[in-house]
Amino acid sequence: MSFWSDLFGIKKGGSVIGVDIGSSSIKVVQLRRQGGTAVLETYGEIALGPYAGAEVGQATNLPADKIAATLKDLLRESNVTTKNAGFSIPFSRSLLTLVELPRRADPEEQKTVISLEARKYIPVPVSEVQLDWFIVPEAIAEGVEHSQKVKVLVVAVHNDQLTLLQKVVGEAGLESSFYEIEIFSTIRSVVDEPIKPVMVLDIGASATKVYVVERGVVALSHNIRQGGQDVTRTIASAHGFEMAQAESLKKEHGFGNNKAPYDRKTIELVFSRIFDEARRALTKYETAHQKSVTTIVLTGGGGVTKELAEYAQSFFSIEVRVADPFGKTSAPAFMRPVLQEIGPEFAVAVGLALRKLEELG
Ligand SMILES: Nc1ncnc2c1ncn2[C@@H]1O[C@H](COP(=O)(O)OP(=O)(O)OP(=O)(O)O)[C@@H](O)[C@H]1O
Ligand SMILES: [Mg+2]
Repeated sequence: MSFWSDLFGIKKGGSVIGVDIGSSSIKVVQLRRQGGTAVLETYGEIALGPYAGAEVGQATNLPADKIAATLKDLLRESNVTTKNAGFSIPFSRSLLTLVELPRRADPEEQKTVISLEARKYIPVPVSEVQLDWFIVPEAIAEGVEHSQKVKVLVVAVHNDQLTLLQKVVGEAGLESSFYEIEIFSTIRSVVDEPIKPVMVLDIGASATKVYVVERGVVALSHNIRQGGQDVTRTIASAHGFEMAQAESLKKEHGFGNNKAPYDRKTIELVFSRIFDEARRALTKYETAHQKSVTTIVLTGGGGVTKELAEYAQSFFSIEVRVADPFGKTSAPAFMRPVLQEIGPEFAVAVGLALRKLEELG
């Protein structure tokens, strides 16, 4: 271990955490590298609802100090032993745009062109956001006049979101070396297909995020403003349950066995609305790229819903699988069934921890 890493308490090859502050809960995953594998050391989740006068599973909008206090509770309860963290940025607080810009042979000149041009595509003042960009590999940028244009993914994040996260990190006594838009964390932990285009549906509490990923690159992203809390609300109002009761019934039965004390149509109604909108995004991608998506990956807490994969499969007529992010980590065999079941909720946190491990090398 070097003097510098000692000084900063950063152990090379030590433990790292990924922290995902979702709208309904915070998730943390701690990993350690052992040989070529990422060993799962601990994980945990804490609902934000009760800290905001809302029920478990409902979306919240808490200030930094409350989030930090909740995160500290989570770190303690989950026996997290490191400060080395990577944090996620909500997709809803970021902007992603694919643009075509003039191509330059000289890499430095290319960078300058992109830096100057990229900002024109962001529909908010540049002073309010942090900008970043990636050149899309040529194999994916088909249809682009190769000699003249280069395809660039422009990414912008609101400054106030970064300020909030930095406050949370500081108040919780952690150190975060990066903030990553949750899409990229999810892709790292749930998408394995090297070539085929895949559609990821991250069904959170307040929103469902749709990403079409091709060769590891985001070809399309879309935010649907409905998620798990809408499912719970609909069950509650259709059948006169309290929210907390509807939430636990939903988790127990999902699309359900015939024992559910609510009509399957109730839950189908919400998911069909979400899927209708996802299908429009999918069609947009397929038409523009002249390619078909052959796999759908369900992730996020809503992705855990019982029998949702079967429903999704019949809705889209595309092969559907439920994400298994912990599959990328090494854990005792007896834990596998439970890790597989809860995995989708932790996809972002696992992806962040994997990146943090790569970074430490
Ligand atoms: N077993 C389950 N069956 C059905 N729904 C579930 C289950 N477990 C969790 N959920 C739902 O998943 C949602 C929470 O998912 P998740 O933790 O991914 O959201 P989030 O990250 O907090 O929200 P967002 O990504 O929208 O900011 C809640 O609405 C919850 O009711
Ligand atoms: Mg989420």
